[in-house]
Amino acid sequence: MSAMKIKQLVYISKATAPFTSASLKDLTDLANANNAKLNVTGCMAYSAGYFLQLLEGNAETVDSLYRKIAKDTRHKGTKLLLEATVDEDRRLFGKWFMSSFNVDTTVDFPQELKQSMTDIINDRTAIVPVHRLFMEFRKYLGK
Ligand SMILES: Cc1cc2nc3c(=O)[nH]c(=O)nc-3n(C[C@H](O)[C@H](O)[C@H](O)COP(=O)(O)O)c2cc1C
Repeated sequence: MSAMKIKQLVYISKATAPFTSASLKDLTDLANANNAKLNVTGCMAYSAGYFLQLLEGNAETVDSLYRKIAKDTRHKGTKLLLEATVDEDRRLFGKWFMSSFNVDTTVDFPQELKQSMTDIINDRTAIVPVHRLFMEFRKYLGK
């Protein structure tokens, strides 16, 4: 018997106007409520006006949600960074339909990880690759 598979998708985008902690929270709350109906989980990281978001769930559901999100005028230049098919038990954000992580305001977030986020934003090779970066975000969310 084969295990259930899910799709993980990561994209990057640039906010068309800066987000505050409050507007980031509002967006996360809305995404959380919507994603609960879709059984999509994930995390939205924000840094220096850029979003790095991971979506995971049923492949068709994730693809159509991504197409919807990409049309949102609150950001632009959405670019896919990662698409993977993994076993359901490898879900990274099983506890959150949508979580958010503000890199700029998390004071104890290690410099190496901040730098990796900046490298990814600037299309450079990062010391910490994107999937591992989300594992680090998850650690901080659990705190
Ligand atoms: C960076 C970013 C991430 C988003 N993530 C999600 C998400 O995970 N789920 C979601 O439903 N909407 C997300 N949205 C919002 C959607 O683009 C859209 O505004 C929303 O789903 C519309 O909800 P409604 O159909 O209930 O009005 C995101 C928007 C932005 C700018």
